[in-house]
Amino acid sequence: MRKIQISASILAADFSKLGEEIEAAMKAGVDWIHFDVMDHHFVPNLSFGSVVCKSLRKAGVTAPIDVHLMVEKPEQYIESFAKAGANLVTFHPETTGDVLGCLHHIRSHGMQTGLALNPDRPLAEISKYLKSIDLLLLMSVFPGFAGQSFIENSLEKIAQARQLIDEKRLPIALGIDGGIKNSNISNVAAAGADFFVIGSGLFHAQDYHQHIQDIREKISGGRAT
Ligand code: DX5
Ligand code: ZN
Repeated sequence: MRKIQISASILAADFSKLGEEIEAAMKAGVDWIHFDVMDHHFVPNLSFGSVVCKSLRKAGVTAPIDVHLMVEKPEQYIESFAKAGANLVTFHPETTGDVLGCLHHIRSHGMQTGLALNPDRPLAEISKYLKSIDLLLLMSVFPGFAGQSFIENSLEKIAQARQLIDEKRLPIALGIDGGIKNSNISNVAAAGADFFVIGSGLFHAQDYHQHIQDIREKISGGRAT
């Protein structure tokens, strides 16, 4: 049995009341808060950085925070996110000349590690790093914005990644990020994902608690229970 984890992407939250949004998402039963950091270079959008994480911690937010770096030179962000209280840092391998060094740097600051793969990049690109990561995050949209549609052929890649992880018996969470809604989550779970990033699917719902409950039921209807 795989451990199912849900991470709420605050990119789709109401920033004017971010603390309350996070509290409501955690109360509704999510496991992580997903922090989408964009630098307007690697992706065509700009979001927020470690100061936001720091002030959430200062305000008493204790939720586990997974940082998704969509930036060039991720090595320059690791220390400040560690100091700001992040728990896990994910980056895209093509954004640095030293993937392994970056992963070690994250670990040396006591955080968990993740690698993210864009929809057009093959699994082969990360296979040599699988022993050094806690999360493999497959993108099911091209990163940059919340609220995009799920790219259907991501299902095949999830299934391939699941096979790879199971064959090697690796203790890695298999994440999916982009366009996850309660209409497609059963298929995504059945393909083998066990870490679900959900942005607009959650924060645009009327009742977060009900929504997470529905989602968990749909996930357990798939094979990943
Ligand atoms: C895309 C981000 C995602 C996004 C998810 O660039 O990495 O985490 O915010 O939001 P939805 O679920 O709305 O696609
Ligand atoms: Zn993300």
